[in-house]
Amino acid sequence: MDIFRIEGPVRLSGSVNINGSKNASLPIMAATILAAGKSTLSSVPYLSDISVCGQLLSQLGCKISRSSNGDLCIDSTVIDNPVGEYEIVCRMRASICILGPLLARCGRAEVSMPGGCAIGDRPIDIHVRGLQELGAKIHLKNGYIIAEAPNGLKGKEIFLGGAFGSTVLGTANVLMAATLAKGKTIIESAACEPEIADLANCLNKMGAKITGIGSPRLTVKGVKELQPAEYKVIPDRIEAGTFMVAAAITAGELHLHNCRLDDMMAVVDKLRNTGITIDATSDGCVVTRKGPIKTGDITTQPYPGFPTDLQAQLMALLSLADGNSIIIEKIFPDRFMHVAELNRMAANLRKESAAVIIAGVKKLIAAPVMASDLRASAALVLAGMAAEGTTIVNRVYHIDRGYEKIEERLNPVGAKITRESD
Ligand code: EPZ
Repeated sequence: MDIFRIEGPVRLSGSVNINGSKNASLPIMAATILAAGKSTLSSVPYLSDISVCGQLLSQLGCKISRSSNGDLCIDSTVIDNPVGEYEIVCRMRASICILGPLLARCGRAEVSMPGGCAIGDRPIDIHVRGLQELGAKIHLKNGYIIAEAPNGLKGKEIFLGGAFGSTVLGTANVLMAATLAKGKTIIESAACEPEIADLANCLNKMGAKITGIGSPRLTVKGVKELQPAEYKVIPDRIEAGTFMVAAAITAGELHLHNCRLDDMMAVVDKLRNTGITIDATSDGCVVTRKGPIKTGDITTQPYPGFPTDLQAQLMALLSLADGNSIIIEKIFPDRFMHVAELNRMAANLRKESAAVIIAGVKKLIAAPVMASDLRASAALVLAGMAAEGTTIVNRVYHIDRGYEKIEERLNPVGAKITRESD
């Protein structure tokens, strides 16, 4: 397993290009199941999660390849094994998003239950309820979800909200299934995340008839079949937010290219309130911090609220604020594996059920720390760049799931990160 050796403190300065969105790419890759033929997806990042999704699609019968210009080519002409195996699904919870398209394409799907992960339980009851509303018969067997719709699916008005609000991949599953259902489907309390809008735009390019894109009410007129597509995924707003915090926590200045500020208004608002300057440019923004980090009061919510995927990164930043801050986690109440690790670096964080009280400290001190999940590991890298001394981040494979060669993108702008095998 690789480790990162991070020298700090550093000050970042320069330009960084934001990659395509992991969380748009994964459901869009699953959507290619719906149309027999060759789809070409561009701007799909080189991440381990993307590779795992490719393995999953290959197991179904798809042929996956990368062209010389980096485009991801998926040939879904043959789907002769509609089964999502446990060995793959347990490595990436997002694998669940093949359930809806497989069911719609083949009339049957067997997908392993995702199980829990470091950020908490990953229930799929709303996914199941939504597909049952479309007429699927679903039961559990040996840890697998068996979904059947031998006579096809039928459109319906569906309320898809749960105790935590909308579900991103639950919306993706039901939306993809509804594109081939007979008649009209209305999905109320749909997720409004930009990644879901991107999926809907891709589906419409494949011949689906979806309206209300970006709103909590999606209307789908079922069609007989879809066509393969050529599609470019949107930039990764979570990666962009992570790099914004990198500039802020090192009192630096970064020019982010290929970054859509419109997708990140809650993040930009909170960062500006902590004293960070964010100036829009033609293709992104310039992020600068000159003065002290001001305190923050953040609650994570479904889009357009503050994204849970940037909670850990903001916690690292607010650990150095000039006073007390609070972060409340309303999406994954247990998503705090990074708290103990940041405290090992002399942060002063106190967890109170689904909230963390952050007493700002003057400086962080380097220490060996353990990555636990994708975004927590990003927070530890950010803290390591600001901390005094040499920070060792273990289990770097977590960060490789969502950030493409992050050390090769941070070092040219001033970071001192070396990847070593432990
Ligand atoms: C997506 O996960 C993202 N993953 C997550 O990003 C992100 O944290 C999450 O949305 C929230 O924004 C991808 O897009 C691949 P949810 P998803 O269903 O769809 C509860 C990352 O770091 N819920 O929107 O699995 C659930 O427990 C990853 O890139 C149910 O109760 O999340 C949670 O509390 C981590 N029943 C809340 O809803 C269900 O059937 C939101 O989860 C489904 C979800």
